[in-house]
Amino acid sequence: MLENSFLEYSFLVHVNRGLGQGFLVQLSRAAVVFSKGFNENSRMEERRALMRQNSWLEILVQCKNKIQEQIAPLLETLDQPQPDLGIGAGGDPIRKIDLAAENAVVGTLTRRGVSFTLISEESGVRKYGERPQECYVTVDPIDGTTNLMRRVPFYATSIAVSEKPFLKDVYSALVADLFHGVTYTAQKARGSFRDNRRISPSDNVSLEEAVIGVDLNSYKVEKIASRLTRLIKKTRHIRHFGANALELCYVADGTTDAFVDIRGKLRTTDVAAACLIVKEAGAMLTMPDGKPLDVKLDPGQKVEFIAAANAEMHRSILGLVKSGKEKE
Ligand code: IPD
Ligand code: CA
Repeated sequence: MLENSFLEYSFLVHVNRGLGQGFLVQLSRAAVVFSKGFNENSRMEERRALMRQNSWLEILVQCKNKIQEQIAPLLETLDQPQPDLGIGAGGDPIRKIDLAAENAVVGTLTRRGVSFTLISEESGVRKYGERPQECYVTVDPIDGTTNLMRRVPFYATSIAVSEKPFLKDVYSALVADLFHGVTYTAQKARGSFRDNRRISPSDNVSLEEAVIGVDLNSYKVEKIASRLTRLIKKTRHIRHFGANALELCYVADGTTDAFVDIRGKLRTTDVAAACLIVKEAGAMLTMPDGKPLDVKLDPGQKVEFIAAANAEMHRSILGLVKSGKEKE
């Protein structure tokens, strides 16, 4: 941008007849030198960004491995009475296993000397290292804790890294299915992967054939049920598995065709990583009114969204789901 505006400026000076030729030649040369330097700088910046993204991916995988190691003994004790550890920053009771997973992430990052601001569903916002504003690490240590506690084999960990505490600024992401040992990752502008293989969403456009996840898990179901009736009537296969980060990854890799959560109850910590995975895979993700989804990353911040495998499927669902303001 800077380069363009400088060249435009130089052009404008050229057309100004009031200036001498020598000055104009010098100015154009300066513009070329400046522009070369700028290109070099921006290439270096790109290289640095790439290196930063690559090393983050390696760190995130290390965090995930540590989580698996730390929670393994606790998975053996799920039938025993669980201690009361209070309520987490996201508003749900904290389990020993949630804390063990969070400690695994924090321990891995601090041991590697990373400065960061943690945004966690359990401990809330905490700063680590000398330059905590350098990056934000948004974590849901265990997404699907109820499934895990009841031995339903569908729960995950979710870690997102961003420059600023906003969803649109997430540049590296990992969601791991902790039961099946499957890892989803994404980097901004570089695609999404499942166990290192590039993934893409389904090209199904028929609601009759589609498998669509809908989260109805809410105490205010009477408020959202009527908004979803038309979608549910048209879709033969409605599902909800109970770990929304993983359900979004299922849209990203074509396992399902869409996932809808319009409850206004889900925290950003649950889906910060999965949102990048969905978008980088090439699927659609917006708010229920079709506007882009961007919210502050904070354990108290809630999100609503419609994720769909492709534009046509997304359009069909948007047309069927009533916005919060529409009357019956
Ligand atoms: C929960 C899961 C669940 C959704 C809940 C979330 P948690 O996450 O994503 O599918 O219905 O609203 O709270 O509490 O297990 O991290
Ligand atoms: Ca959780």
